[in-house]
Amino acid sequence: LPNRTSEAGILIKEFRKDLGRSTSTLEIRDLGAGATEGLAARRQRTVGQIARSSPVPERKGELLYRICKHYQPQNCLEFGTNLGVSALYQLAGLESRSRFISMEGDPGLAALARENIQKNGFEATVLEGEFSDLLENHPELMDFHPDYVFVDGNHTEGATLAYFHHLLPKMEAGGMIIWDDINWSAGMRRAWDQICAHPEVSLSIDLYFVGIIWIRRSQAKEHFCLRALL
Ligand SMILES: C[S@@+](CC[C@H](N)C(=O)[O-])C[C@H]1O[C@@H](n2cnc3c(N)ncnc32)[C@H](O)[C@@H]1O
Repeated sequence: LPNRTSEAGILIKEFRKDLGRSTSTLEIRDLGAGATEGLAARRQRTVGQIARSSPVPERKGELLYRICKHYQPQNCLEFGTNLGVSALYQLAGLESRSRFISMEGDPGLAALARENIQKNGFEATVLEGEFSDLLENHPELMDFHPDYVFVDGNHTEGATLAYFHHLLPKMEAGGMIIWDDINWSAGMRRAWDQICAHPEVSLSIDLYFVGIIWIRRSQAKEHFCLRALL
């Protein structure tokens, strides 16, 4: 597990600092579990405010980078692009053959994320729309069989379980799913426990702030709890 910043992480850290200083404003649509006023609610925020509050913390970003570097998944799917910061960590770890698709519900954020990813010299597809709509209807996702998924948005029990059941038959054998914020609420914890108990989940690792599962259909079940390491 990461205990020092990688070279890629140093560059991303600098980029994050620049984003954090940005005073340009965005009118964003409030989505996900924290949204209080429904999907139509819009709020003015500066890019700096978003950059300082929404993206993965550095250590989690480093973990994503190292996982991608180690496993070199070929078909990656991310829920929750935001400004593209976590995408940068993952893309930095991937070799160019990998396909990376990220989904974001807010059009302004999706546009900025595309810009940020390109500015850093990476290629990714950022799909704009509500996660469930995209999963069910977007042509790019119809025949997409991910071997790596990072779920970082809409942390409710119901949505988490719905995404899991949608993803399960689509996942490549041996594929992994990283769930962010498994202890964010009692509901998220229940969802995580149910996911780990599913017969097709052969390996699960609880890192407290994130949970990682592998779908290795022929392997005996194992569960590990590595608390306080992130
Ligand atoms: C925590 S942020 C993602 C941060 C990003 N992964 C990073 O670390 O840089 C969650 C993002 O998911 C988006 N989101 C939340 N619920 C969504 C939903 N149901 N459909 C589409 N986007 C959603 C939000 O707009 C927000 O930008």
